[in-house]
Amino acid sequence: MQYQSKAAIRPLVAALVFAFASAGAVQAQDAKPAADPAVANQLDPNAPEKDDKLIDKYQAVKVEDGKYFDKDGAPTYHITNDGKKFDWYAYSGYRRYHAECHVCHGPDAMGSTYAPALKDSLKRLSYEEFVGIIAGGKQDISSSGTNVMPAFGDNKNVMCYADDLYTYLKARASGAMPRVRPTDKEDKPEAAKKAEKECLGG
Ligand code: HEC
Repeated sequence: MQYQSKAAIRPLVAALVFAFASAGAVQAQDAKPAADPAVANQLDPNAPEKDDKLIDKYQAVKVEDGKYFDKDGAPTYHITNDGKKFDWYAYSGYRRYHAECHVCHGPDAMGSTYAPALKDSLKRLSYEEFVGIIAGGKQDISSSGTNVMPAFGDNKNVMCYADDLYTYLKARASGAMPRVRPTDKEDKPEAAKKAEKECLGG
């Protein structure tokens, strides 16, 4: 199972490298600023694409040992200091995402030709649905494509950080976290250190 998914990634990486290289070439030729606002929006890492309804829905109403929860009781992000300082889990999720998921789902959860933009998926997926998909994988049998979401159920580097990933992707879905690498963050909570140790070691 794991062997299969590794083999599947190889041609994909090549395709991505090629796509990035060609995108760079086009940009270099065209030095003028993009006139199309949609394009400009994609290129400006700080361009706001906030969804007020989701920001409201995903708002933290409770905190327990440094982990925040929204009114549905699901883990969520918490951003302070004028949108610059992130809770530990959202920050950790950013790093985990860019270690385990971005090769298929694109940087900053923006999607690729291979896999959907998770910043859009997280507008509708519940916590349970999200964890179920990363544990069990997903293959859309109705589509003619053969793109597969691998099952990460036995990968501790993913499953031990499911809440972190979910929290980060919610912040991307609502637009609370722009396309930038978070710099300021809350300290790693003792509870996170303990849970991590138990999960990785067990
Ligand atoms: C080998 C490429 C690959 C990797 C790595 C990967 N995914 Fe996926 N993922 C996919 C594909 C392809 C789909 C679409 C599957 C389908 O709908 O049939 C998908 C679908 C999903 C979905 C469902 C999206 C929706 O709109 O229903 C979620 C959630 C998801 N992936 C999360 C993740 C997370 C989190 C990670 C990192 C831990 C990750 N994926 C890593 C390829 C990948």
